[in-house]
Amino acid sequence: MYDFMPAAQSAAADLYRDLLAAADALTAGEPDAVANMANVAALLWEFLPDLNWAGFYRVGPAKAGGAEELVLGPFVGRPACIRIPFGTGVCGTAAQSRATQLVADVHAFPGHIACDAASASELVVPVLRDGAVIAVIDLDSPTPARFTAEDAAGIEALATMLAARI
Ligand code: SME
Repeated sequence: MYDFMPAAQSAAADLYRDLLAAADALTAGEPDAVANMANVAALLWEFLPDLNWAGFYRVGPAKAGGAEELVLGPFVGRPACIRIPFGTGVCGTAAQSRATQLVADVHAFPGHIACDAASASELVVPVLRDGAVIAVIDLDSPTPARFTAEDAAGIEALATMLAARI
């Protein structure tokens, strides 16, 4: 049994230190990307309060064989849109720009894709390998402005750690 749980009322720095340690322990030495993304999605859900979606979109070929696009990966939350073109919505913007998107109000974000009407704010962090985006980590919250710069830094550290494991 794995028993990774956040300490009650952790400060953000402690929370992300513990989350990263748990993610490291669960994914180290495991070559299966889907297994690693699934366990990390579960950890994000367990550690971070006030989320309604936590998971991955991977970069994959378009169905019709066209340009690459984001394809839904392991997650916790309600069923979500499966394919997102680069440059579309918060996830597609993060993938295209290779930059973290910290969105306090998703309704004010041009092209935001509403997978769950409950979502009010969102944090999307690209996972880069050798400078190329291979996936994004997406967190949604029903609370406006739920995510801070500390959350962005914590998820960016997680993305760096996972780059060779997913
Ligand atoms: N809202 C995202 C789409 C993914 S869902 O939130 C899970 C976006 O605008 O890219």
